[in-house]
Amino acid sequence: MRIAVIGTGHVGVPTCVALSHIGHHVVGTDLDQEKIGGLQQGIPPFFEPGLPEALVTELRSGRLRFASSSGEAIPESEVLFLCVATEPESDGRANLDALERAARDVARFATGDPVVVEKSTVPSGTSERLRRMLADSGREIDLEVVSNPEFLRQGSALRDALDPERILIGADSARGFEVMRRVYDPLISRGHRVIETDVRTAELAKYACNSFLALKISYANALASLCERMGLDVGVVTEVMGADTRIGGAFLSPGLGFGGSCLPKDLVAFELLASDHGYEFPLLREIRALNEEALFSVLRKVEDATGGMKGKRICLLGLSYKPNTDDVRGSPAIELARRLMAGGAEVVGYDPQAMPNAKSEMGSLELASDPYEASSAADCLVICTEWSEFAHIDLERMKREMRSPVVVDARMVLNPDDVRRARVEYYPTGSPPSIPS
Ligand code: UGA
Repeated sequence: MRIAVIGTGHVGVPTCVALSHIGHHVVGTDLDQEKIGGLQQGIPPFFEPGLPEALVTELRSGRLRFASSSGEAIPESEVLFLCVATEPESDGRANLDALERAARDVARFATGDPVVVEKSTVPSGTSERLRRMLADSGREIDLEVVSNPEFLRQGSALRDALDPERILIGADSARGFEVMRRVYDPLISRGHRVIETDVRTAELAKYACNSFLALKISYANALASLCERMGLDVGVVTEVMGADTRIGGAFLSPGLGFGGSCLPKDLVAFELLASDHGYEFPLLREIRALNEEALFSVLRKVEDATGGMKGKRICLLGLSYKPNTDDVRGSPAIELARRLMAGGAEVVGYDPQAMPNAKSEMGSLELASDPYEASSAADCLVICTEWSEFAHIDLERMKREMRSPVVVDARMVLNPDDVRRARVEYYPTGSPPSIPS
C-alpha cells in the first residue's frame, strides 16, 4: 500500500520504518527540514537503539523515503498516518495545532479517498473535530478518520512496532476497518491480536492504558516508602505481587517517579477529559501526587545523607527520563537537578546519551565526560536512570574520587555485594540503607 506519515518524531520515524519493513511504500514528511535532511541520509533525529540500522535498510529497500513537504508526500497515498506532537498547553490539555495543521494539508493535497489515521495520542472526540475540518474544506473527497493509537516505548520502539501485543483499530465504518486490516495484514497473519472498536473508544483506551501504567508505578513508589519505614525490601513484595498473573510484574519498579513526554501529559489530559464529561477521577490526581512524592523522597534522602544540600556537590548519574533514550522531556533527573540547585547545591551530571539534550534543557547544569569525572569531589552520588553501564561501575574507584562516599541509588541499579565490599554509605529505594560501621 502507499502510505504517508506526517510527523517524524519518536512515533513517526519508527512507524515509517516498521510500515516499510512489513512491505508498504512509505513516505515520511515533517515541517522540520533539518530532520528530513538527516532522515534522507539514514540519520534519525534522536537516539533509539537499532533505529539507524533499520532506517538504512528500509531506505535501501526502496520502499521508504522522506519528502520535504506534505504537498510531495500526501498525494497518491491510500493511508495517511498523523504522528505529529500533541504537547500539552499550560492548562494540561493536548495542543492540537499541529494535528489540525496536518489535517489542513491532508484536505489540500489528498487525492483519491484516503484513510486518515490518528496515531498521536489525542483526547477522545478529536476524530470528530478532524472530520469536521476535513468536511468543511469543501473538497470532494471521501476522507475516513480512524484511530490507531501507538503503544511504542522509547528505547524499544521498533520491537514494539513490529511485535505488538495488540493492534488497536478504532473506526466508525467498514471501510476504515478494511483498510487498516490491510495495513497490518503482515502482522495479523502472524497471529498478532487486533482489537477493533469505534474511534472514541480507541482514543479513550490509549489514555486508560498510560494512566494505568502510571498507577502501577505510583503504587510501587508508595509501597517503597512504606517498606523503607518498616525496614523491609520492596523488591521482594513486588516479586510476590508480580507472580500473580492478575497483577503482573511489569511497571512495579519504584524509583524517582515516571517522566517522559507521555505518562505525565496523558494523565493530566485524561483527568481533564473526565472532568469535561462530568466525572471527577480523583485517583488520577493521587497518582500524580505520589509521583511528586517519589521525587521528593529522593531529594530528602540526599538532604539527610549530606546533612543539608547547601554548598554540597551532588553528582547525578543518568539524566534521560529512562534508559536507552536521549530524551530528557519530563525527566525526573532534570527536575531533581533543578531542586538541588534551588537548595544551594552544586550539581554535576553524566548520561551516556542525553547530555546534549540535558544541556539545552538546563544550561546551568555542569556535565562530565564519564561517571568517574562526574563523581570527583562529590558529597553524594545519585543514580537517577538505570542505564546498564551504571550497574558495572567501579565503586572502589568512585569512592576514591568522591569527597564523601554517599550513594543514593534511586533506581536500585547497584549490586548489594559490590556496595558492601566498597563500604559506601548506601541509600536504595524501597529497602533499608546500609551504612558501614
Ligand atoms: C509510554 C508507554 O509505556 C507506551 O506504551 C506508550 O506508547 C507511550 O508512553 C506513548 O504514549 O507514546 P514511554 O513514555 O516511552 O512509553 O516510557 P515508559 O517505558 O512507559 O516509562 C515511562 C516512565 O516511567 C519512565 O520515566 C520510567 O523510568 C518510569 N517507570 C517505568 C518507572 O519508574 N517504573 C517502572 O516500573 C516503569
